[in-house]
Formats: sequence, C-alpha cells, structure tokens
Amino acid sequence: MNRGPFIFLGVFIILSLTWALVINKPIQESGHLSPIFDAEQGGRLPMNAKGGAAQGKLVYQEFGCIACHTQQVRVSSGFDLQRGWGERQSVARDYIDQTPALIGNTRLGPDLSNVGQRRSDREWHLLHFYNPQITSKGSNMPSMPFLFETREIVGEPTNRALKLSAEYAVADGYEVIPSRKAEALVAYMKSLKVTYDLKEAPKSKDVMLEELTAALENAK
Ligand code: HEC
Repeated sequence: MNRGPFIFLGVFIILSLTWALVINKPIQESGHLSPIFDAEQGGRLPMNAKGGAAQGKLVYQEFGCIACHTQQVRVSSGFDLQRGWGERQSVARDYIDQTPALIGNTRLGPDLSNVGQRRSDREWHLLHFYNPQITSKGSNMPSMPFLFETREIVGEPTNRALKLSAEYAVADGYEVIPSRKAEALVAYMKSLKVTYDLKEAPKSKDVMLEELTAALENAK
C-alpha cells in the first residue's frame, strides 16, 4: 500500500499546527512589536527615556530602585488599577525601545510605570529622595541624603535649594542643594507615563464597561 499521501498529510498537519500556535499566535499577541506613531505625543511611541531622563534611568539602575519597584501594570486582579498605578495592562510592546527594560519583580513600593502622571511635582520627588519621611510618614524607602549637598549660604539663598519645614531644616545659614543625579532621577520619574493605547493590551473590566456604555449612549 502506498502510505505516501498519509505521511504527507500528517507532516502537513503537524507543521501547520506548529506554525499557527508557536509562530503566528505569539506574533498576533505581541502586535508585531512595531512602534505606533502619534504626532501629538511626539512621534514614535512607546517613547524611550531621553536627555536628563535617560541619565536618571542610569541612576535608577545604579541605586537598585528595581529591588523595590516594578514597572509593569497588571489588570488581572484589579489591584494595580485600584491603586491608580495605570489604566491598562503593560504588554511586551511597551518595552521595545527600553534597553534594559526595568520591569522588576518585587513590590515593596508602588509600581512606577505611571508615576510621572500621578506625581509631576519636582519638589515632591526631591524632598522624598532626601528623606521619604517628609512626604510619606512611615515609609520604608531609604533616604538618600548623599544625592544632596548641604552647604553654607553665600549671599542670597539658591533657588534650587530644598524648601525644608522647621522639623527637617538644617543649621541656620545652610541650604540643601540637589545634585545632578538627584535632578536626573526626578526627570526620569516624571518621564514615566503610559499615555497611549495598544490594541493588544487588555483593559480592566471597568474600563471596557465604561467604553461600552459610552458607545451605546452614542448609538441612541
Ligand atoms: C527598600 C525598598 C525601596 C527602595 C530600594 C526604593 N524604594 Fe521607592 N518606595 C518604597 C516604598 C515602600 C514606597 C511607598 C512609600 C513612600 O512614598 O515613600 C516608595 C515610594 C516611591 C515613590 C512614590 C511613588 C508613589 O506612587 O507615590 C517613588 C517615586 C519612588 N519610591 C522612587 C524610588 C527610586 C527612584 C528609588 C531608587 C533611587 C527607590 N524608590 C528605591 C520602597 C523603596
């Protein structure tokens, strides 16, 4: 008996299934990993850290912030969204331009994917880095006074100096000046925000419900 056609069919089915499940499905799910373009938001998205923010990213790596902070929003439990850490799930495409991607795996502190959106105040970040107790009483985050220089005021006080309350003030006639590393770290924090949608990124049930209700309202 000629088994040729059966063998051919068998091999064909195995190869097709392999292509569909191992090759095509991941490609579909990762959205081909091509960037999207949006002129309003500055062109190519997702945007990588640039300028001061890129330097701040190096400081973030140097100080091991990744030991306590993730940059990956998950929607499955709703936990991240309730805390305002983001509006949608982070997906592979969010990281395509990031070398390295600082996703992290431990969350002793909040997720920072969108920290620039909820905290855009330079002064807040600087005080927080200088001593987290000033802005967040009881925080476990280590203070980083070495990112600042305490120096004698010569002539007028400097504009850039920290505005410390009486409780944390340094000696009379002295001021606390943020270093370039501190400023870069703030620039990096402020640059962290996900302001675009990706079609493969799952949204929370609440967001989907809101969109559906709005669409139904419009259709009326
Ligand atoms: C030992 C763990 C730990 C390390 C290391 C750490 N953090 Fe934190 N971080 C925390 C905790 C806990 C909080 C929440 C309390 C607070 O606001 O201080 C926090 C809060 C923050 C926030 C405010 C987030 C928000 O949503 O309010 C920022 C920004 C931040 N950390 C940045 C950094 C940066 C940058 C580094 C590295 C230089 C760093 N952290 C290192 C534990 C840590």
